[in-house]
Amino acid sequence: MGTGAVSVDSVATWDTAEYERLAAIAVAAVARHVEESQAGEVPVGSPPPLPELIERLGLRSLIREGRLDPECFEPWLAEVLEQSVRLHHPAQIAHQVGAPDVPAAIADLVQGAINQPMSIYEMGPAAHAMERVVVEWMAATIGWPDGAGGVLTHGGSLANLTVLLAARAAAAPDAWMEGVDGTLAVLAPPSTHYSVRRSVAMLGLGERAVVDLEVDEYERIVPAALGEALERCHARGRRPMALVAAACATSTGLHDDLEAIGAFCREHGIWFHVDAAHGATALLSPAHRHRLRGIEHADSAIWDAHKMMRTSALAAAVLLREGWRLEAAFRQKAAYLIYEESDETGLSLLERQVECTKAALGTRIFMNLAFRGEQGIARYLEGQYDKTVRFWELISAREGFECLSRPESNILCFRYGRDSELQVRLRERLLAQKRFHLSSTEVNGERWLRMTVTAPATNEETIEGLLDVIEAIAA
Ligand SMILES: Cc1ncc(COP(=O)(O)O)c(C=O)c1O
Repeated sequence: MGTGAVSVDSVATWDTAEYERLAAIAVAAVARHVEESQAGEVPVGSPPPLPELIERLGLRSLIREGRLDPECFEPWLAEVLEQSVRLHHPAQIAHQVGAPDVPAAIADLVQGAINQPMSIYEMGPAAHAMERVVVEWMAATIGWPDGAGGVLTHGGSLANLTVLLAARAAAAPDAWMEGVDGTLAVLAPPSTHYSVRRSVAMLGLGERAVVDLEVDEYERIVPAALGEALERCHARGRRPMALVAAACATSTGLHDDLEAIGAFCREHGIWFHVDAAHGATALLSPAHRHRLRGIEHADSAIWDAHKMMRTSALAAAVLLREGWRLEAAFRQKAAYLIYEESDETGLSLLERQVECTKAALGTRIFMNLAFRGEQGIARYLEGQYDKTVRFWELISAREGFECLSRPESNILCFRYGRDSELQVRLRERLLAQKRFHLSSTEVNGERWLRMTVTAPATNEETIEGLLDVIEAIAA
């Protein structure tokens, strides 16, 4: 090597032939996995005990010995896929995690290699630009005027925390420096996603600062009872920092009356937050947008794209009607990343988010939008929501079965008989048989089976088959 030349460590630099070979193996294996999953050719499966799985995949020895190579990668990856949840499988109706679409999956493939943690523009220009445009588009889709803004973050839970931090800054601007004084409250129904209570505790208010809102038999907020809740709040010596409603609720998939709740919040000067982690994508559908009527009056909302917008986990948005309120939430600067008084700060997201380094979340959302368009995503959502109504009809027509209510999304609660214990046992038996994967939930103290219809391949035959199996188990 000549003088002045830099020695290149061949272990550390990319062997692009290796990249192409491993990528080809991975892409082919994943394509097969998705194909057999969506065709329902294989059982949906359920995991073995954790220690057995660690052993089967050779995880500990692989870490110690580092001996995975292109030859053994293929069979090993096949086993990993075998031990993974098949989100594209028709009988995979358990959770809200979306079955990702191709463009978002490709975004991850690219980002995995070029790694653009883009909180600061200069650390990932294209990815940063995509996040900006996606957030702008989401705020406009809600129907907010100019000045609305937000940020993408790693999941709905962190998004709720971020929003409540902004609400705290609005209600108690000194809280950042001085802490909180025990007089703040958050109004929310008992059915609110657990991340809301957790956020309240993490923000230093204490979980007791959550004032429960009255709910109906479907766990929806009763708007007529909001005045009484506010009185209870005041009687406890507290003032509301925010009120949280759901579009839609995690357990039931049902929507709160955002119009009536929003009017109440406006009248009483209360920050109105809509947790639309699951349901916001319905804003794209002319047929279902009405379910979120009133969200345009909210002060803030969250929107999980990894649910009905079919990106991989995670890609969530924190959205504020007045975008500047988000920056007011974070009264802190990292001097080595942000120059004081510099106009560079306009090209940073650090003032709006908990994270410092952040994955290129916007690229996943952008790619699905750019390839499928708003209409393509709306068609997917409508397909899933409409099928769920059809499943409600099928289940309601079967003797012995009942549904909680007509679905308003792709989430449906149903049960066989009324015994809560029986629902738990049914779910356990279904999982053991590895043919159907569904979840269960408690609504007003009673246990229900719960399905979330995210895989495009789920159809009436799937559900008829599920009901047959439930009847057979119960017999
Ligand atoms: C209404 C609602 N809010 C928040 C969350 C939390 O979102 P994440 O799982 O992305 O943290 C969920 C779902 O899991 C949800 O359904």
